[in-house]
Amino acid sequence: YPIYAFNYPSLPLSDSCYKNDDKDKSGPEIEQYIKDENSNIGKILKGQIHHKSIIPDEEFMIKDFLISWSDSRKLDVILTIGGTGFSKRDVTPEATKQVIQKEAPGIVAAMLMTNLKITPMAMLSRAVCGIRDKTLIINLPGSPKAAKECLNAIALVIPHAVDLIR
Ligand code: MTE
Repeated sequence: YPIYAFNYPSLPLSDSCYKNDDKDKSGPEIEQYIKDENSNIGKILKGQIHHKSIIPDEEFMIKDFLISWSDSRKLDVILTIGGTGFSKRDVTPEATKQVIQKEAPGIVAAMLMTNLKITPMAMLSRAVCGIRDKTLIINLPGSPKAAKECLNAIALVIPHAVDLIR
């Protein structure tokens, strides 16, 4: 099931995570959450992560990863974490837009509507979701809290979405 394209968030953090993955906090936390069969998300996604990588905030690299993972590895879901904000280095949505063939605006809307009830900061994520062939690509914001909240808002529909794409 889901895999992670760990693209790390804005400014120096991203590139420093890339150089030193000990600085990656959201990744392991989300991973554990998915693997935990007692968590909401774990129950739904059944805890299988096939690939993960940490990518710097470079648009061409994110794009290459998304293309090669969705085209050659036949993965159902790719979750990117980080790089969705307003700073200059935040380019995950731009990379995602270039590789998806169909947008999934409902998933973006669900994350926004649910998360605005938690914090107005949710409006600062420019996350994009969409489909490339048989892979659903979902951008999550970079902080562990934000990524978890967004994933919680949409987890319930992911299995059905994957069934429809296959
Ligand atoms: N969404 C939720 N649910 N909870 C949050 O705390 N933080 C926001 C937003 N989305 C937040 C959230 C903030 S502060 C930013 S800057 C943006 O996500 C983008 O984060 P990113 O650049 O790390 O992807």
